Amino acid sequence: MKHLLGLEELSAAEIERILDAAAGYLGVGVGDVPKRDDLKGKVIANLFYEPSTRTRVSFGLAARRLGADTLDFSPSGSSTAKGETFIDTAKNIEAMGIDAVVVRHSSPGAPHLLVKYLLPHVRVVNAGDGAHEHPTQGLLDIFSIRRRLGKVAGLTVGLIGDIAHSRVARSNIHGLVKLGAKVIVCGPTTLVPSEVASLGVEIAHDLDAILPRCDVLNLLRVQFERQRSGLFPSIREYRLLFGMNGERMKRAKPGMLLLAPGPINRGVEISPDVADGPNSAILDQVS
Ligand code: CP
Repeated sequence: MKHLLGLEELSAAEIERILDAAAGYLGVGVGDVPKRDDLKGKVIANLFYEPSTRTRVSFGLAARRLGADTLDFSPSGSSTAKGETFIDTAKNIEAMGIDAVVVRHSSPGAPHLLVKYLLPHVRVVNAGDGAHEHPTQGLLDIFSIRRRLGKVAGLTVGLIGDIAHSRVARSNIHGLVKLGAKVIVCGPTTLVPSEVASLGVEIAHDLDAILPRCDVLNLLRVQFERQRSGLFPSIREYRLLFGMNGERMKRAKPGMLLLAPGPINRGVEISPDVADGPNSAILDQVS
């Protein structure tokens, strides 16, 4: 595999192989576990055209813990402000001598453009392209499920909330369905496009009805920055119908795992006590 553009393109065997390999890297460079030199001599460029905390920092840290040099680019303070295009910027950074690009962009397909325009030896990793895919988030979500619950096949996973604007939802769906999980997408009708059923998922609009069936809930952030207004009446109503809280936890399956890709809107899709409670794997996902 040369690039990582999405989980839609990967087979179940390829996803399993990545997860198995990832298990061997868990904790490298942390505490007493030594760093490695798998990427010694390589230069990895992080091109982030959208804000990021977890993805940008973890890619940088992971690269350095494996011996690579890293280069961080964000448009603020760069010549993007003078009108330089995405491709021109990428080609100029490529000219400095890089081996891989990790890219986040608001336009779906931006990583695929880099594959087309950059030199053949440069590897491209999609760190989130618009509402299309966020494959590394999908992989780490599935990795966290497998690690905490011991399997993926046969589990029922609820993806809750803003499915329409969520690249995380699309990557989760592709990966989880391929690995044999049952996926239920649940949210307000305005945030769950009916076409998503063609991806092999069940559509629901009543969280309380599906809650007792779910082994895992992945609580998607309401993406206020991508939404036009009026997709649901109020934050209060969203929280009442789709927010995970202590009362709902009492009606969930015992041991139900709670994931959230972050950043979380505390008090909207998840209450603080649940986000920080024993069923939450939110910080495990980040690790
Ligand atoms: N989950 C995730 O992609 O977080 P960031 O936007 O902070 O990278």
